[in-house]
Amino acid sequence: MVQTQDFIPSSYSQTSDSGQFTWSAPSNIALVKYWGKKANQIPANPSVSFTLSHCKTITTLAFEKKQNDGNFSFDLLFEGKPKEDFKPKIQKFLERVEPYLPFLKDYHFTIDTQNTFPHSSGIASSASGMAALAVNFMSLERLLNPEMTEEYFCQKASFLARLGSGSACRSVKGKVVVWGAHANTETSSDLFGVEFPKDIHPNFNNYQDTILLVDKGEKQVSSTVGHDLMHDHPFAEKRFAQAHQNLDKISEVLHNGNLEEFVKIVESEALTLHAMMMTSMPYFILMKPNTLEIINKIWKFRSETKIPVCFTLDAGANVHVLYPEQTKEQVLAFIESELAMHCQNNQYIVDQMGFGAELIAH
Ligand code: DP6
Repeated sequence: MVQTQDFIPSSYSQTSDSGQFTWSAPSNIALVKYWGKKANQIPANPSVSFTLSHCKTITTLAFEKKQNDGNFSFDLLFEGKPKEDFKPKIQKFLERVEPYLPFLKDYHFTIDTQNTFPHSSGIASSASGMAALAVNFMSLERLLNPEMTEEYFCQKASFLARLGSGSACRSVKGKVVVWGAHANTETSSDLFGVEFPKDIHPNFNNYQDTILLVDKGEKQVSSTVGHDLMHDHPFAEKRFAQAHQNLDKISEVLHNGNLEEFVKIVESEALTLHAMMMTSMPYFILMKPNTLEIINKIWKFRSETKIPVCFTLDAGANVHVLYPEQTKEQVLAFIESELAMHCQNNQYIVDQMGFGAELIAH
């Protein structure tokens, strides 16, 4: 089994004075949710997600050798302009990953990042952002150690991304990624995400995710605080056990293509996530009236048309509408005529399953 120590390099065979890479990394949407964690970003339960395609962060990492004076040195640009308020998060990330990337203080870095989705859309960019940064640092490590295998590159990129934000470790690869040790998922690990190990049924080919932007405001409660509230939560242990069972069930469904079962597991997971928030102490609600309007309309549409469209939620009010590719035309017409009116400025993003991080330039 791969252990944390396996990601601590002993020595490098090469040196590099300067250069740059550009990587994109997508967002992902969890089907079985990660909610609750232990020390060092170890999840309290396993989760599984679809990697997305269009919602991406694109990050250029430029590096230049400097004197190692015991400090990290970096400039942070967002869409080409300096962005001071993102710096503490990056500083914290560098501190966390330094044991695994011992060269970090030997370089000055310029990190230039942008998202393909609107900054104010309320879509969390931490998953795609941390994944994009992690693969860039792995590209630099591969320059210093060219013998590195592709498998090691991806596992360690996911491992580093996890230390930035848990769900980010599911954004390195596609199309379906499991993160967290799970008895019946071979190769699964708490340390990094792995590609779903079984064949995926063609029903899920290019599965669609249309993200309805219900509320773009700042969340009242951050994910970090929400995860923390699972510590003294009265239902935590039952919930963690349920996630293991739901991962068993959805693994079967992803393999056999049973969309009716898929809908049940995915919607139950979304509502359970929010039920955990509503039963924390302090309790909180991230759904908005429009979130519920949309859910009710999806249920009505599904029962009338028998199209297996369903919803899921992340830690916010936005609704992800999931449906098979061959129903796209009908579902998009329904979204445009019935659901867009519940979105801020009628905005939604049409996305679909994707393949993970991509090297754009080096
Ligand atoms: C509700 O990955 O944002 O989206 O590890 O503290 O950065 P941190 O949390 P984060 O939590 C996301 C939780 C979720 C469910 C999921 O993506 O599995």
